[in-house]
Parts: sequence; structure tokens; C-alpha cells
Amino acid sequence: MKNENIFICSSCGNQTTKWYGKCPSCLEWNTITEEAVVNVKSKSTAKASYLEPLTLDEISSEDNNRIPTNIAEFDRVLGGGIVSGSIVLVGGEPGIGKSTLLLQVCSNLCNNKNVLYISGEESANQLKLRATRLGINTPNLYIAASVDIDAVNHYVNSVKPDFIIIDSVQTMYSSELSSAPGSVSQVRQVTLTLMQMAKQNQISIFVVGHVTKEGGIAGPKVLEHMVDCVLYFEGNANHSYRILRAVKNRFGKSGEIGMFKMSDKGLIEVLNPSLALLEGRPTKTSGSSIICSMEGSRPILAEIQALLSSTRFGMPRRTADGIDYNRVVLLMAVLEKRVGMNLSDQDAFVNVIGGIRVDEPASDLGICLALASGFRNFIIPDDTVLIGEVGLTGEVRAVSKITRRVEEVFKLGFKRVIIPKANKGIELNKNNLEILTVSTVIEALAILR
Ligand code: TYD
Ligand code: MG
Repeated sequence: MKNENIFICSSCGNQTTKWYGKCPSCLEWNTITEEAVVNVKSKSTAKASYLEPLTLDEISSEDNNRIPTNIAEFDRVLGGGIVSGSIVLVGGEPGIGKSTLLLQVCSNLCNNKNVLYISGEESANQLKLRATRLGINTPNLYIAASVDIDAVNHYVNSVKPDFIIIDSVQTMYSSELSSAPGSVSQVRQVTLTLMQMAKQNQISIFVVGHVTKEGGIAGPKVLEHMVDCVLYFEGNANHSYRILRAVKNRFGKSGEIGMFKMSDKGLIEVLNPSLALLEGRPTKTSGSSIICSMEGSRPILAEIQALLSSTRFGMPRRTADGIDYNRVVLLMAVLEKRVGMNLSDQDAFVNVIGGIRVDEPASDLGICLALASGFRNFIIPDDTVLIGEVGLTGEVRAVSKITRRVEEVFKLGFKRVIIPKANKGIELNKNNLEILTVSTVIEALAILR
């Protein structure tokens, strides 16, 4: 029989018999690649043993089966440590520090457990150099430079690891398939094999995944569906701060973040992100405000800066770094229409300082006031934090978890916080701390000018 090729969408995994510029299933452009047809009987079906269903009472709850890494920021993102038998995907841009982070996690784990580190990208020698540089010298860390998933199966029997690190999934291949490593079917097959390994032997596996230029993990979306947790390691290569974010977590809260700083001795935990982000903040300047954004269960304070200057050309320019561009455009329209600021001939540049990204609506009020402050050239007092979502009529709307936010604001030494009037009933003993409530952007402006 002729072995025909099939076409697979790298975004959704949809298969077609011919090439399309646009995937008929997920409607993404340029995602279809050609791959050889393979007839593997998936091991999962071949070896399926039929377990009888159990009632909830009969199933043991294993949540206490968490292994702490003793890297507090890492444990927090996972929801309190590594769940045994789980598979965690760590994505991030090249050079952001995924391998460094996982090597440091290894060194913390292998004091009493066996850890197997499979590197498909670096040689064992390079890894040794890195480990030396990081001051890691632990006896139970086994390193293999390999790209063959079947070899990993063999190592599992010889080393009997409790943890496996696969760096990275796109370099691994299964000899059962003829397509190239990194292709959709290979990535899927490798992940399937790893899942079986994890569940059968109660091994916890960390898998590094490369990120495409659109920002998603390369490979079909099904990859993210298959694993238990998806963590993104983000940051700006020009900044030393790195954020580890749980995008999906079957055993904890998603959206949880941990912060690290890249140093010459590897990654260092940042236990108080707000303090780090506000470090070196300019004082007594216009166009700057402090916001409080909930990242997972943790409130984080960050500085917003806005610079406005008259447009030289017909079209005003707008840029946003660390915030959604469309949100900035929308808030500028609110300022224009509801507050009466003529921003249409102004170039506007809005940044969140420190390389963190805030997408929470509670930062709207701070963005509006930073813009207003930059435009009208007045200074927002250094001891003031702004919290509130802004609606299209210029109203300030209630935000969630206000007590937690306000507590954090005062814990960091700020004296005054402006919050939505709609957020009633904050319980705080406020000794010489000022909580002001506003119902519109105009009211907030009146307080600060
Ligand atoms: P790496 O972990 O190799 O990134 P990834 O696996 O995500 O591609 O990190 C590489 C970068 O980190 C590299 O640019 C150098 C920097 N780095 C340090 O600054 N300090 C260190 O101690 C180490 C090991 C790396
Ligand atoms: Mg790497």
C-alpha cells in the first residue's frame, strides 16, 4: 500500500488530506505541515488493562502526596509542591532560564530522591559546567544527553527515578514514528509515552516546551490538554526579573505566579515582588502611578508610567508595554470623551515597570491617572495607590478581593489608597491610613489635583 502523507495543524492537531493555507478547523493561518502517515498501535490502547470503576469513597485521596522543592516561589505556583505522578509542562522563550530553573529544582530534590535529567539540547558536559556554575553537586542526579524516548524508558528501569526532567519535548522522538522530532505527531507521541511513564511508576515529570513566536507552546494545543500543569516562564531578556505563571493547574489555582531574579549564580527567589518592582521608582514626577493587581492569590504593586507628547505626524502613536494595547486605547478614549482631555493629537507611551505584565481591570484607574498626570503635568503623591476598574462612561467599578489589596498597600508603607465607592465594607484598623472612595475618574482626578 502506498504510504501517503497527511497534513496536521500545529495549532489544533486537526488532520487533513491536503494542504491548506488556513486550517479548516481552528482557522489559524500557516499552521498546516505535512507529515508521514504512521501506523503505530498506540501503546496506551495495546496495553490497556481494564480497571473497574470505583465510587468516590473507594478512591484514596492523595493530595497529601506533595513533595516540596523548598523553592518557595516554585512550590507556590504548583499549589504547594510537586504532586507525585504528575506531568508539568514548562514553557518559555529561548534563553529565559527554563533549564537553569529546572536544574536548580533538581538539586533541591535529589537530596533524598533520584532525579533523571534528560537533555536533548545540551551535552552532559555542558550540563556539568552549568551545574558547577550554579554550585550544584548532588549524588542522586543522573544526567543523560539523549533524544530517544525509548532510551528514556530504559533509563527509568535502570535508575528508578522519582523525578524526570525532559529538556525539551521538541527535541525528543519516538522511533515508532518516521516524522522528524518536533513535528506534531512526534510531540504528541512523546508526551503520551511520558504520561504512561508518569502514571504507571508514580514518577513526576517536568517537560520543557519551546514557545512559538506567537507566544504559545509549540505543538498542538492538545499537548497542553494532556499534561496536568502548564507553567509559563516569562520575562524580558533585558530585565533580570522572571515570572513563573501557572496557566493551567489540575492540582491548584491557575494564575498563581512566582517571581525570580536571574543572577550570575542562577535564579534567586524574589519573596516580595512588589518591593522589587517598586525599587528605584522616581519620585515627584508626573506621569507615574502605582496600581495593585491580583496575580493568583497574591496582590502585587507595580508602577505605571505614561508619557504623552504632541504628535509630529498625522496619526498619533500609541504603544503599550506590559498592558494590553487595546485597553490603553480604550482608556484614552474614556479620558477624551468623559473627562474632556483632548488626547487626539498626543503620542502616548504606557509602560508597566519591571517587565511584569498586568492584565487585570483593577489597574484601569491607575492607568487613567498616569495618563492624566502625564498630560496635565501634575504629580500623583508617592504615597498613594490607585485601585479600580474603569467603565466606558468613566465610572469606577468595584474590584474583587479589595481587603487583601488594601492590606498589601499599607504593608508596603503607602499611606493612602483610592478605591471604588462600590467596594463597601473593608475591614481594616486604619491608623493614620487614608482610604478614599470614588465613583468616577473625574472624582479621582479632583482628589489628586
Ligand atoms: P537557560 O536556562 O539556558 O535558558 P532556556 O533553557 O530557557 O533556554 O538560561 C540561559 C540564560 O541564563 C543565558 O542567557 C545566561 C543566563 N544565566 C545567568 O545569567 N546566570 C546563570 O547562572 C545561568 C546558569 C544562566
Ligand atoms: Mg534550555
